[in-house]
Formats: sequence, C-alpha cells, structure tokens
Amino acid sequence: MLKNDTLDQWDRAHFLHPSTHLAQHARGESPNRIITGGSGVFIEDRDGNRLLDAFAGLYCVNAGYGRPEIAEAIAAQARELAYYHAYVGHGTEASITLARMVLERAPKGMSKVYFGLGGSDANETNIKLVWYYNNVLGRQDKKKIISRWRGYHGSGLVTGSLTGLKLFHDKFDLPLACILHTEAPFHYRRPDLAMSEADFVGYCAEELEKLIAREDADTIAAFIGEPVLGTGGIVPPPPGYWEAIQKILKRHDILLIADEVVTGFGRLGTMFGSDHYGIAPDIITIAKGLTSAYAPLSGSIVGDRVWKVLERGTDAFGPIGHGWTYSAHPIGAAAGIANLKLIDSLGLVDNARTVGAYLNRTMAATLSDHAHVGEVRGDGMLCAVEFVEDRDNRVFFDPARKIGPAVAAALLKRGVIARAMPQGDILGFAPPLCLTRAEADTIVAATADAVAEVLG
Ligand SMILES: Cc1ncc(COP(=O)(O)O)c(C=O)c1O
Repeated sequence: MLKNDTLDQWDRAHFLHPSTHLAQHARGESPNRIITGGSGVFIEDRDGNRLLDAFAGLYCVNAGYGRPEIAEAIAAQARELAYYHAYVGHGTEASITLARMVLERAPKGMSKVYFGLGGSDANETNIKLVWYYNNVLGRQDKKKIISRWRGYHGSGLVTGSLTGLKLFHDKFDLPLACILHTEAPFHYRRPDLAMSEADFVGYCAEELEKLIAREDADTIAAFIGEPVLGTGGIVPPPPGYWEAIQKILKRHDILLIADEVVTGFGRLGTMFGSDHYGIAPDIITIAKGLTSAYAPLSGSIVGDRVWKVLERGTDAFGPIGHGWTYSAHPIGAAAGIANLKLIDSLGLVDNARTVGAYLNRTMAATLSDHAHVGEVRGDGMLCAVEFVEDRDNRVFFDPARKIGPAVAAALLKRGVIARAMPQGDILGFAPPLCLTRAEADTIVAATADAVAEVLG
C-alpha cells in the first residue's frame, strides 16, 4: 500500500466524497479514514485500528465482512462471464436464479424483479413504473407521490425529493412539485405531548386524509414509506400505523411502495419488514442486504396488480423504454445468490431477531434513565438513542451544539462505529446481522462511556 501521506494528499486533491463537508475535507480539516480490511463485524483502517462497525457500513454489510463464500462467487462469475446485458430478453444464469430466489423470499402477491444498482435508482424505477401504470390505465393526471417527512429514499432528483430531510433538499431546488410529504410516524416527536400512541396514529391518518383531500385523490399515484424510518432517525412506527395508512390508500386507489432497502433480507428479524408489519405493498424496493454490499445491486419487486398492467402496456405500446446498462449485472447477481444462501445457512434472520432484541434491551436498560436520553428505541437489528437537553419537557438540544456527532466521535475513540443520524441528536446502530451477544455488550458498554464523556 502507498505511504499514508501520499494517499492522504491524493484524497484531498482529487476525491469528491459523498455526504461530506467538501471544503473542510479538501483543506485537510477533517480526518480521512482509509479502510483496508474487515472480518465479521470489525473493520481495520490503514493505521492498524480495529473498529467494531455497529452500522454495517451504511446498514448494508448484513452478512458481515470478509465472507469468502461471496468473494469466491464474485471471482468465479467474473472469470466465466463478467458481463452481459439484460435488454430484449437476455439473461444470465446468475440473474435468473437470483430473481427466483428473491421471489421465493418475498411477501405474497409479488410477481417479478427488475434489477438495478443501488437504492436510489431502484426508487427511480419504481416511480417510472407507477407513472407508466397510470398512463396505461388512462389516468394521465394520477402522478403525484406521497412520501413522509424524515423518509429516506435516495438522493437523485426524484428520489432526493422523496427523501424528507432538509439537507437533501436545500440548495438543490428540491423537492420537485410532484412529490408531497406527510407526517412521519415518529411518536416521540409528536406535536402534542399529551397524544398517546393510538392518538398519534389517528393524527397521522388524519394528516394523510387531509393531504389527499387537498390535492385530490385523482392526482395521487402512490405512497412510499420504509417499514421502519431509517436515516430519518431509526423509528419503528407506533402499533396500528401501517393498518391505518393502508386503509386510506386502498380507499383512494393509491399504490403502496414499501422501501425495504434497509429492512429487506432480515434486518427486522423477518425476511422482509412488510411481513413484520402486515404491509401488503404493490412494489418493494431492495438493495443493501441483497448482496450485503459485496457488489452493487438493487431491485424493484413488482406485485401482480402492477405487473398485469405493465404487460398490457407493452402489448399496446411496444417494449418498455426503461433500463440501465448494468441492470441485473451478473457479478452483482452472483454476489446476491451467495449472500442469500449464507443468510439462510448461518440463520442470520433469526440472529437479527434474537441478538437485535438483546441489543435493544441492554441499550435501554443501560441508558434509558440518563438525564439526557429522551428515548431508546429500535426493532430487530436496528437501535437508536435520542439525546435531549431536558427530558421531562422534551426540549431538544440546539443543533449547533452537535451533540449527536460528539457522542459518535467519543464512541469511535472507544473503537465502535455508530452513526450520528443527519436530523436530530440521534445515535443510530445497525450492526451486521451476525452480531453476537458479547459484541452487543461491547457496543452498549462503549456507548454508555461515550455518553458519560459528552453529557455527564
Ligand atoms: C430506505 C432507503 N432507500 C433508498 C436508499 C438509497 O440507496 P442508495 O444509497 O443505494 O442509492 C437508502 C440508502 O440509505 C435507504 O436507506
């Protein structure tokens, strides 16, 4: 490997990093971290630090680092056939096999998988399919999409608009006019502290009804949501939320897209979050856990109802004008097959449920009583700690104090990576699904120390 200072210099001089303070980074004011290896839940950097990655990269390395089974499948595919496209009915053994494996695991009522590269492009595909669907049905005005504040669905033009976070809109002229946002199912941040969870579900449903009435149901094509809000703060919905929302969507003939980029393939202790929460989507977005990020691959799982209309559309108008050069890339597909086999053989979905519950339980037992911890919440292998100035009156810290990032930095000093979520002082955990109880104990103990250092 190159001498450290050379790489550092090249990085500052040439590399435009995503989601980074560009000027500080170029000036050398923020650390650059060059990662060199990984095994299980640990990664190593070029300075020889071994860190417990309690966010699995960007909640994607679900099977854990350094799995030879996936690496060898990728190498074998590259040797045999590195690439062929999937246009005009072409396929490879890997892409066809993976489509079958995904459908075998998907919730009921799903029909086909379109493969892309990442979560953003998969959601872009979904919105195009929904528009196409309504055009084939002769409903040219039914095109708007409802998302939630704090939802995360990517950072393209349409998908960045779907995302309901300020950072992804400001200065990019987003959201686009065809994208609407409704209340996030975030009970801790309810507008009125007196609201019970049931009251708050009623409030979210009412807000959605009002938005639909204001905009006119005949102009609204679809609703998109993550089963558990991820980047918006790791927030499981209150009981009854999805039932109430689905009732409204059905009544107004609005399609439902479940964005399972984070929750798909086991993170909640079930294969899909839709199974976990009784969601019956028309389209499901998948990415991250599909290959455990060993190769870029995403997918749109299309349900029967939409598929039938797509078929009618191509009978009427000819081949569908949508596709990427790298759709269903065989190397990604080979990684996906090896990864899904590993998830089964290692029992990672069950492990996510049991060890995830243990992580959430011990985190809550250790931190819930802290004067500056407003809430410890989570589900499966997702957990979050939200910090507040005054917990009795739910007064949040001034964002300028950057309490969340300070706790994440203190935790990093202790050898554990968690994520300071982008909106609010929220520390997020989403470890690989192979986490052990002993590793969960390490995360919780280090977090308690880090919180004590920053907040007393
Ligand atoms: C729920 C969800 N959808 C979509 C995306 C976008 O995926 P990508 O970053 O691969 O484009 C993400 C990324 O974190 C996500 O969490």
